[in-house]
Order: sequence, then structure tokens, then C-alpha cells
Amino acid sequence: MMAKHFFVTIIIFLESPVGVGFSYSNTSSDYQHTGDKNTAKDAYAFLVNWLERFPQYETRDFYITGESYAGHYVPQLAYTIFLNNKNANQTLINLKGIAGWEWLDR
Ligand SMILES: *[C@@H]1O[C@H](CO)[C@@H](O)[C@H](O)[C@H]1NC(C)=O
Ligand SMILES: *[C@@H]1O[C@H](CO)[C@@H](O)[C@H](O)[C@H]1NC(C)=O
Repeated sequence: MMAKHFFVTIIIFLESPVGVGFSYSNTSSDYQHTGDKNTAKDAYAFLVNWLERFPQYETRDFYITGESYAGHYVPQLAYTIFLNNKNANQTLINLKGIAGWEWLDR
């Protein structure tokens, strides 16, 4: 009898920045401090909290993609993940790759 292996891919849709789609804040001042830097910070905080809630996925390979202005958000979030892993001297998020280059030159 052969063992069967199942590989489940988890896809998280995160709308950025705050105020877009299903992403919101109950703190009105959050809407005055949007911008690429805070968007990366918010997305990073979301991911860290998500992994705390679902630690079984902590070691999974992680990829980021996005469309439109995510051509900015994707590499900025990747860089934030890279810096935090480096500063902690450990892999907090197991980033393996990114894609989504629209809007990179705008
Ligand atoms: C924000 O406010 C709404 C409406 O009062 C509430 O349902 C929701 O739980 C609040 N969200 C957070 C994160 O506090
Ligand atoms: C990470 O390693 C560097 C170099 O060894 C060290 O200076 C730093 O304190 C370490 N940071 C943490 C959070 O352990």
C-alpha cells in the first residue's frame, strides 16, 4: 500500500493599504498615516499576528504576489520581512519568493 501525501497551499488575500476593500481600522488617525512605509509595516504586522494565530504554518514556504500598485507593496513587504528576519537572527517568515512587477517604474 502506498502512502498518500497531501500538500495544502494556503492563500491569504490582504487588501492594502488600510481603507481599501475589507481592510479597515477603527482608529481614525491610521488613515492619516498611510503611505508605502506604513503599508509594509501594517502588512508585516498582519502576517506576524496571523502566524501567531496559526503557528502550524510558521515554517511553510512563503511567497508574495500582487497586482497593480502591489508592484511597490510586494518588494517593500519582502524587504521588511528580510530586515526583520535579519535583525532577529532567525527566520520569522520563511520568504521564498516574490512576483508582481506592475507599477514598479511609476
Ligand atoms: C471595529 O468596530 C466595529 C463596529 O463597532 C466592530 O464590529 C469591530 O469588531 C471593530 N474592530 C476592531 C478590530 O476592534
Ligand atoms: C543578532 O546577531 C548579531 C551579531 O551576532 C548581534 O549583535 C545581535 O544582538 C543579534 N540580535 C538578536 C535579536 O539576537
